[in-house]
Amino acid sequence: MTTTGMRPSNASPTPKPALSNRTEILQELTRHLLSAWDSFDHPRPSEPQLSTELLKRLGTPLPEQGEDPAHALGDAVQILESSVSPARPLFVAYVGSSGLETSVLASAISAAYDINLATAAGAADQLDQQAVQWIAEFVGFPLGEGHFTSGGQTSNLTALLAAREHALPDSRRRGVQAGSATVYCSDEAHHSVVRAVEVAGLGSQSLRRIPVNGKRQMQPGALEQVIQQDIAAGRVPVAVVATAGTTLTGAVDSIADIADVCERYKVWLHVDGAYGLPAAATEQAKPLFAGLDRADSATVDAHKWLGMQKSCSAVLLRQKGILRATFGHEERYMLHEEDASNPVDQTLEYSRPFRSLRLWLSMRSHGAAQFRSWIAGTLQQAQTFTELVRQHPQFELLHEPMLSTICFRHIPRAGLPEDQLNTHNTALARAMQQDGRVYLAPAVLDGKICLRVCFVNFRTPQAAVPFILEVAQELGEKIL
Ligand SMILES: Cc1ncc(COP(=O)(O)O)c(C=O)c1O
Repeated sequence: MTTTGMRPSNASPTPKPALSNRTEILQELTRHLLSAWDSFDHPRPSEPQLSTELLKRLGTPLPEQGEDPAHALGDAVQILESSVSPARPLFVAYVGSSGLETSVLASAISAAYDINLATAAGAADQLDQQAVQWIAEFVGFPLGEGHFTSGGQTSNLTALLAAREHALPDSRRRGVQAGSATVYCSDEAHHSVVRAVEVAGLGSQSLRRIPVNGKRQMQPGALEQVIQQDIAAGRVPVAVVATAGTTLTGAVDSIADIADVCERYKVWLHVDGAYGLPAAATEQAKPLFAGLDRADSATVDAHKWLGMQKSCSAVLLRQKGILRATFGHEERYMLHEEDASNPVDQTLEYSRPFRSLRLWLSMRSHGAAQFRSWIAGTLQQAQTFTELVRQHPQFELLHEPMLSTICFRHIPRAGLPEDQLNTHNTALARAMQQDGRVYLAPAVLDGKICLRVCFVNFRTPQAAVPFILEVAQELGEKIL
């Protein structure tokens, strides 16, 4: 019998692990993780400052020799402790929360195995598909195909590229003539739609921003008119992007009415539910998403309202096959056997980490009912907060919230002109960020600078809801 050089033999030396003290360092990491999770259970009074000694270490050049990893890990934890973390219970800025423990466990173990979902990865591919099916089932989308991506931006771009190939077959190869193909979204759609249109080579001048109604939803009548004008001018409508939960106010476009328009003109309907779509799983918010099952594609970010670590988004498509038509390829370094495609034949990204394990492990551990109840709880918090703002003599509610995002402003005394109110609310948002008890961010709504809170954080305690307004009032009066 011949032996190959590659076959392990009893005589071969045991390779030395790169990290000699890995048991100790893992125990150290476990301690740090536990202490982080304990600290996320309670709001903290302020943000800790970095020691000057550590700050100095952050300016040192590339180390030639290594040191005890426990020291470096200790420094890393201090830096993390002094950074803004969306996992903290009173982080109510933007539309991110995250920090679910089960998702952290999945991130750690999947990083260790470093599965690459670009090529066939074995069992991981099956789990990946199950997780896509689960997230689609959770939000009520009839899945044909889909996958996890690096974020809402990538999911929106993926869907738009699929829509482009659908409306203009072979445009991936031939390109698109300037100004000949159009995309539609509301005035309040996320900038990722603009960027996706630009990257897809359609040009942002071909993006039609449709005005919103009093509820800040895209006006289907106006949409239809603009589509008619474009068709009459010989342009090809590629896609309509409805937003299910706008970033600014949480408005959900009327998907069913928009789907009617799309069906009449045979235009691809994409629903950008990066932030809002998980709410479709709850009894109280489900009716807002009527018509979702008629969309051709949808984006949902598990790293927003579902509490996963960034980044963990999913792009879902109703029909099978279009992803391969959009991204499929044959290269000399990645052959297909018979007609089996590699996962990368359906994705924009090449090397792709095992993000879906976060959702899978979390759904297995908590169950869909727990997620529904977390989301329902944050919707309830948003309602409570809205009523508190409405009744407070020093605050003004700037819109009727549909989901869990609320824009409001402090009016310290009656009769202040708009420019002074804008200056005051900008200063108040900054003061709140420096204070550190509540983390929120300013926004601009109809020209008014305001404070914006978004309840998507499963760690926010119910009792903290009035506290957010108390802190805003206290600091608002102090800076006046
Ligand atoms: C509605 C909407 N779409 C898309 C995005 C982009 O998502 P990501 O930051 O995950 O790329 C966001 C981000 O806030 C969003 O709110």
